[in-house]
Amino acid sequence: MDPVILVVGARPNFMKIAPLHAELARRGIPQLLLHTGQHYDENMSKVFFDDLGMPEPDIYLGIGSGSHAEQTAKVMIDFEKVCLEHKPSMVVVVGDVNSTVACSIVSAKLWIPCAHVEAGLRSFDRQMPEEINRILTDSICDLLLTPSADGDENLRNEGVAEERIIRVGNIMIDSLFNNLEKSKSSTIHSELNIEGKGYGILTLHRPSNVDDLASFNSIISGLEHIGEQLPIVFPMHPRTRKQAEKFGILSRLEAIPNIVITDPIGYLDFVALTAGAKLVLSDSGGIQEETTALGIPCLTLRHNTERPITVTEGTNVVVGNDTTSIIAAADEIFQNGGKAGRVPDLWDGNTAARIGDIIEKNIG
Ligand code: UD1
Repeated sequence: MDPVILVVGARPNFMKIAPLHAELARRGIPQLLLHTGQHYDENMSKVFFDDLGMPEPDIYLGIGSGSHAEQTAKVMIDFEKVCLEHKPSMVVVVGDVNSTVACSIVSAKLWIPCAHVEAGLRSFDRQMPEEINRILTDSICDLLLTPSADGDENLRNEGVAEERIIRVGNIMIDSLFNNLEKSKSSTIHSELNIEGKGYGILTLHRPSNVDDLASFNSIISGLEHIGEQLPIVFPMHPRTRKQAEKFGILSRLEAIPNIVITDPIGYLDFVALTAGAKLVLSDSGGIQEETTALGIPCLTLRHNTERPITVTEGTNVVVGNDTTSIIAAADEIFQNGGKAGRVPDLWDGNTAARIGDIIEKNIG
């Protein structure tokens, strides 16, 4: 039987593919794990394979950093060669990064069935590179596997045929639930000297926040207030460090009261940190979902979200990057404990099994 190729490229992809890789292995379905190398630092990539118990990739493209066009084009050129050599029965892409759109275009042009996991999410903000990737990927993939009803609705509104849309649930929550127990042996709290203390977590990397000095400064002003209430753990993304250095504001970041700046943190340590946090401030996509699943208050430092169910059902509040709104939302959490939520349907840890059924049916 020809193999299924599972594509990963950047940090948020690894926790979405790990449960599916394990599921296909359990079913004896031949597969190749392909890493484009969009993220390549040890702490942005390798540590996730180790933490998630994923084997080394079968194929590594080593694409690295570059402009969006360079990165996307390089992945396409190399991935086409891989597909011609291995003749996959199906390609599976996840999420919304440049590697996702690049591999889905290649598959479509070679008539290889392609499944998109996490289909249908829309922020309706085309200034986000990920939004362009989502729209393009969904427009050419054969199977659109959605995490929630809003995803189905968005696809229908774009005229997608009903038979291409299948709601499977949120696969990232499979990884979260699979690893929650294991994360309890993490020593990250004592390493960061926050054991037994209430603390917040901050992650920041979106171009709309860190490529724009006014937005970046406005967020820092909010953090200066929050840091007076409790320690803030800030694992700094490489692009954020680069931008802070370029703008000359690294020292302002370092001077935020009670800030604990670290390099990017591995999966198990980050789950352990999230599970014990008083609040999480982030512009990430996945963290909005993980906090909802864990019942931890999340303030999303963006003006929109492609994951509205984390707001309507979960613990997420979209606050933007304005200082006053950030402070008001954080104070609300300090005073009233933050928004209560519930875990959405099909975020149950069984999404990989549902996707396994669909793949098995479609590769015949
Ligand atoms: C990418 C994804 C984004 C995702 C994020 C998670 C796209 C368009 N963006 O953004 O959706 O939320 O990953 O992290 O695909 N760098 C390193 N080491 C690495 C990787 C990156 O130093 O291992 C630096 C490089 O200077 C690079 C910059 O970070 O230029 C940005 O990396 P890139 O892959 O272009 O996008 P991210 O901002 O990480």
